[in-house]
Amino acid sequence: MEEKDFAAHLTATMTGSALTMLIGVGHRTGLFEAAARGPATSGELAGRAGLQERYVREWLGAMVTGGIFTLEAGQYAFPPEHAKFLLGETASNLMPSLLTLSAFTGILPDLERAFAEGGGVPRSAYGPHLETLGAKTGDSWKHVYREHLVDGFFGAVPGLKERLTAGARVLDLGCGTGNAIAVAARAFPASRFTGLDINPGVVEQAKEIGLPNAEFVVGDAAELTADPPYDVITAFDAIHDQDRPDVVLRRIREALHEDSLFFMVDTNFSSHVAKNVGNPLAALCYSISLMYCTTTSLAEGGAALGAMWGTETAREMLADAGFGHVDVLGSPRPQNCIYACRP
Ligand SMILES: C[S@@+](CC[C@H](N)C(=O)[O-])C[C@H]1O[C@@H](n2cnc3c(N)ncnc32)[C@H](O)[C@@H]1O
Repeated sequence: MEEKDFAAHLTATMTGSALTMLIGVGHRTGLFEAAARGPATSGELAGRAGLQERYVREWLGAMVTGGIFTLEAGQYAFPPEHAKFLLGETASNLMPSLLTLSAFTGILPDLERAFAEGGGVPRSAYGPHLETLGAKTGDSWKHVYREHLVDGFFGAVPGLKERLTAGARVLDLGCGTGNAIAVAARAFPASRFTGLDINPGVVEQAKEIGLPNAEFVVGDAAELTADPPYDVITAFDAIHDQDRPDVVLRRIREALHEDSLFFMVDTNFSSHVAKNVGNPLAALCYSISLMYCTTTSLAEGGAALGAMWGTETAREMLADAGFGHVDVLGSPRPQNCIYACRP
C-alpha cells in the first residue's frame, strides 16, 4: 500500500471506530427508533426522542457524513435498507455486535496489564458490559437461529434434518440461554433436546423456554459422560472458548456411539495469519478474540485457543479426540463454518 493510501486507510479506521461509539449512543438514547419513524429536521428528531437538539444535530452530522443517514432539503432520513442492519428482530441486525465492541473499552486497562504481566481478564470483569447486552449469551445468535438453524445449518449436513424429524437424542453443549434449542425443539418435536452450560445464570433463563422435549442442566462439558448416549451433540460457538478444549472434544467423542454426529459451528478462518490476509472479517475477529476469547481463557489458565484457532487446528484437535471423519461445510454466515464430525 502506498503512503497516501495507508494514511487514508488509517483515517477510515479511526472513522469506523468513532462511528461505532456514536452508534452505541444512538442505540441507548433511542435515536435510531425515533429516526426510523420518518425523515425529520434535527429539531423534530430531538423532540421525538426527548433529547437536546444541539447534541442531536452534531450526532446527525456524523451519521450523514458517515453514510448511515441521508440528508435532503434539511430532512435527515434513516433509510429502511439501512435501518434493518441496526434495528429489529432479524439476523441482519448488527447492533448486538456493535455494542459488544464498545463494551470492550471497559476492560482495556486490565488487558494492557495482562500484556505486561501475563494472566488475563476474568469473565466477571466484563459483568455489566456484556451480561446486560446479552451479547455473549446469545442476542447476536438468537435471530440467526430463527432464520437459519433448520434449513441453513442443519440442512447443510445430508440426512440430519431427516434424523431429527424421526426422533433423536440431542445434547447442545454450551447452550447459553437456549436459543438454538428453542428453535430446534419446536421444529423437531419427536427429538429430545438437553442443553448443558456451565453458567447457572444462563441455564435459568433457558429453562423459561418451557418446551416438553427440551431440558436444561448446569454442567461442565469437560466432565461429560457417555450416559445417556447421544445421537447428535451440537456446539454453537462454544468450543474455542473452552478452557480445556482437548478434554471437551475427547469427552464428546466418548459420549457418542458409532452412528452419532458431532455438529460443531465455529469461526471460519485459517489457523495461519498469512492465509487470513485479505479476508475482510479477519481483523475484526482477531480483535474480538484478543479482547475476549484469549484473555478470558488465560485468566483461567486455559488453552487460549482464541476465536482464530482456525480450521487446520480444529481438524487436528478433532482427529486427536478420535473423530475419524470430519467434513468442513459452509454455513449461512461467512464468518462461521460447520464441522460434521463422525467417529
Ligand atoms: C459464546 S457462548 C454460546 C452460547 C450458545 N451456544 C449460543 O450460540 O447462543 C459459549 C457458552 O459456552 C459456555 N461454556 C463455556 N465453557 C463451558 C464448559 N466447560 N461447559 C459447559 N458450558 C461451557 C458458556 O457459559 C457460554 O454460555
